[in-house]
This record gives sequence, structure tokens and C-alpha cells, in this order.
Amino acid sequence: MGEILGLGISHYPPFSGKNESMANIFFGRLKDPALPPLMLNRENWHPDLLRELGSDDGEAAAAVHRARMAEGFQTCMTVLREFDPDFCVIWGDDQYENFREDIVPPYCILAYDDMELKPWAQAQESSDMKGKPNYWNEGSDYTLPVKFATDAARDVTSLLLHSGFDMSYAYKPLHHPGIAHSILNAILYLDYERQGFPWPVLPCTVNCYGDKVISHKGFVSSLGDIRRPDPPAPSPSRCFDLGAEMARYFADSPYRVAMIASSSWSHAFLCDKTYRMMPDVDFDRDMYQHLVEGDYQYWRSKSLKDLTDSGNQEMLNWMALLGAMSVLDRKPKWSDFVETRLFNSSKVAAVF
Ligand SMILES: [Fe+2]
Repeated sequence: MGEILGLGISHYPPFSGKNESMANIFFGRLKDPALPPLMLNRENWHPDLLRELGSDDGEAAAAVHRARMAEGFQTCMTVLREFDPDFCVIWGDDQYENFREDIVPPYCILAYDDMELKPWAQAQESSDMKGKPNYWNEGSDYTLPVKFATDAARDVTSLLLHSGFDMSYAYKPLHHPGIAHSILNAILYLDYERQGFPWPVLPCTVNCYGDKVISHKGFVSSLGDIRRPDPPAPSPSRCFDLGAEMARYFADSPYRVAMIASSSWSHAFLCDKTYRMMPDVDFDRDMYQHLVEGDYQYWRSKSLKDLTDSGNQEMLNWMALLGAMSVLDRKPKWSDFVETRLFNSSKVAAVF
């Protein structure tokens, strides 16, 4: 019988940078020419947003936000180290990084050979870190060895195809010289203390950005920049069921497996109802409450529209994790909801 650990974290790129640039997405949004003029008036801003901005453009709040999330990374890493898995399944989105105009799979298991990544030299390919100093002051020559659980990746792909999930797979990168930042940052952030991440990974990318993945390159866009939408992301219930099927398989395998969701929740820059200035904190609080209670069918009942209306495109990664935890009948043992209105997204860390 297999042993399974569930973890959920954020891959928020500004944690890789310095505190003074933590709120850059917000300040970038203020330059959107399509923003209604009333939204530029601070008197119309949410009191919590003003509190975080303080008198230093959010720098002090950034330190608090980072410290709270770093605690989550460290809690997850402590449990991961104790568990010492054979490999880590990581669900993460591909934001126009490896998958582009020539092919966009709804999900794809990466059965790559081991890699020597250079996170900061390759930063221009993703993660918005190009030319910026990183939190750890690592140079562009910093090398991160990443091992892949290639055999298990092939096996679980076969199982999924046999059981009716049309899973895509890849043996080597297509466009990205490394791995999408959702997967890379999961490793960089879990190993926040740089003590080493010795476990092979089994990444499963999810096309979370759906109708914006090619049209808006899975990133920030102006409210007035209306483009022809791409086909949608896979549905929340399908992602949930995918996670459940993977967990069923690994629970029956000889492996010790960590199953990790890598993403923040509501993203300000995707949330039209807040003019893409703040995340939908109310939606996230409600989802968090149901997560804490282990009410996973509530999660599965959400439509893709529910997720995209609240800027929660990336929550599909957590759908897969909660599908897995649902089939294993696991509730979170520890979790933290890191609320913000300034730093683009609500963030959650959880251990199951
Ligand atoms: Fe992402």
C-alpha cells in the first residue's frame, strides 16, 4: 500500500523578489488607461488595501505578508522532510511558458529526464523576474538540480489513459528551457531555507488560464484590451476527478508520494469585479472555510465561471489536490489563509 501526503502552497513570483517590489502588480494596474477614474481616488479604495499600503507603498506590509507565507512554506517543508517521499506530484499551471500556439494540452504529465536548472538565468522565460534581484541574492549561475520521477510518470499516465482520462505527456520541454514557474517556484519556495530538495518531481501541468492562455499570454492585461478568447480550461469537476484518480492509483502503489497543489487563489489581475485591482477575498474565504471543514463536494460543485468570475483560474490546481484528499478521506491537519488586498492574490498553505 502507498503512503500519501497532501500539501498546498503558493508560487507567487514576487516572493522571489525583494519586499520593495512586492506590490508592483498593483501599481502596474493603476496605469491601466481603461480603469474608471473613480478607482484612482484613494477614498474609494478598500480600508484593508489602504492599511497595507500604509505610508511606504506597502513595503512594511510586504515583510509581514512574506513572513506569514514563509512560515507556511517551512511548515510544509518540515512535514515533507519527515515524510521523505519517493517523489512529489506537483499540479501547477503553465502560463504560456512551455505550451504556446502550437499545442495547449488541458493537462500534461512531464516525464522529463533530470535537469540542471538555472532559475535566474532562465527567468526571462517566465515568472516576471527578468533582470530583478532575487530574495536569496543568488546569481544567474545559480544551479538547481531537479530530478524527475520518470518511471512513475509513465505508469500513472498509462493508468489514467486506461481509466478514461485522456492524459497528455511529454518527455522533453517544448518552448521553456526549464519548467514552468508554478513547478519551479514550488521547489524554490518549499526549500526557502536552501537546505536542498532531494526528491524527484512528477509535474502535472494544468491549463488554468484557458481562454486567456494564448490571447493574453496567461498574464496581466488591460480592462480595455478585449481579445478573441481561446477555448476554455478544463472544468473544476474534471480536475477534481483527475486528482482523485491519481490518488487512488498511488494509494494502491508501493510508493510514498507527496501530492502538492502549487498556486495562489483569487488573482487581482484576473478579477474583473474589482477592476483587476484586488483579489476576491470573500470568495476565497468561503472556499477556505469549506476546505477546513473537508467539504470537498462544495469545491467540486463550482463551475468554471465561478472560478473565472472570482479571478480563481489557478484554483484548478487545488481542485486536483482536493479531489485526491477527498478520495483518501483526508481533512487538513494544518492550514493558513494569508489574506491580502495589495499583493495580488490570497494565498493558502495546507498540510493533509
Ligand atoms: Fe500561476
